[in-house]
Amino acid sequence: MTERMGLLSGKTAIVTGGASGLGEATCRLMVAEGARVIVADIQDDKGVAVADDLGDAATYRHVDVTSEDEIRAVVDEAVDRWDRLDCMYNNAGIVGAVGPIDEMPLDDWQFSIDVLLRSVFLGSKHAARVMKAQRFGVILATSSVAGLQGGLGPHAYTMAKTAVVGFTRNLAAELGPYSVRANAIAPGKINTPMNADVLFGDPEALDRSLEYFKTQGTPLAGKPGLPADIADTAVWLMSDRSAFVTGQTIVVDGGLTTGSIEGAEAGQGRFANHEPLLREGGRRGR
Ligand SMILES: NC(=O)c1ccc[n+]([C@@H]2O[C@H](COP(=O)([O-])OP(=O)(O)OC[C@H]3O[C@@H](n4cnc5c(N)ncnc54)[C@H](O)[C@@H]3O)[C@@H](O)[C@H]2O)c1
Repeated sequence: MTERMGLLSGKTAIVTGGASGLGEATCRLMVAEGARVIVADIQDDKGVAVADDLGDAATYRHVDVTSEDEIRAVVDEAVDRWDRLDCMYNNAGIVGAVGPIDEMPLDDWQFSIDVLLRSVFLGSKHAARVMKAQRFGVILATSSVAGLQGGLGPHAYTMAKTAVVGFTRNLAAELGPYSVRANAIAPGKINTPMNADVLFGDPEALDRSLEYFKTQGTPLAGKPGLPADIADTAVWLMSDRSAFVTGQTIVVDGGLTTGSIEGAEAGQGRFANHEPLLREGGRRGR
């Protein structure tokens, strides 16, 4: 029997924020699909544990995504090591500054923008430097449903995630002629340490947050948003199966941004009840 070729067989990648949550799940699936990956993060213990668990196909590197020197260095290391870079996944993030706009300290706003947006600029810049020359590659970023609708995240977060959507389109336009694709993913509410921390003040409280996400964050019954849902999309976007997809922000939110009611019982969706035909002037029926 011939061995199954993975979706990412032979491909090489850097995943920022790879030590936890969506990035970790993506690294794990990438390796299962045949890729070699540098897990880049600032949570060293967690990152080392993930890379060790994944064996020879993964290496951990301490990379602060706000540092151009550190991003440049990890991209150069990938090229030295593999002679190519197939994918750069700019995924690292934080919730950042929260609170009302009129009380938000500028420094907190700036710090948040640096982690969430400067990082995507830097990762894309240095990946593009390599990918333009090699004439292939995929640049991915994690945006958010907060980048698509108001009221779903704090201000700096929303500004950065919205900018990622536009930047992704621009990148795709510039890099398409070099056969380099650029896409983003807009996750909805996903059960990761970030959200466990927001909900319960404890990034380790994933069992509790899983219970919460079983009924909140999606109109889909019995389907919480899981890191694997994002990993599946990321791997597809890195693979040749998405060869004609570029400049897009793929929404993976269980229908949250459709405006459907979260956690509604079957038959209780908006306008799903048995009201008769509603007509002009308050008249009903035919
Ligand atoms: N979880 C969700 O519901 C959700 C929804 C939409 C978007 N996102 C986005 O997904 C991405 C991943 O988030 P997550 O939910 O997996 O959270 P997470 O906290 O589990 O993982 C984020 C990782 O980014 C790393 N990181 C933070 N600052 C960094 C820095 N300066 N340099 C390098 N690494 C840094 C953290 O150490 C952590 O390992 C983020 O960009 C987040 O905004 C998450």
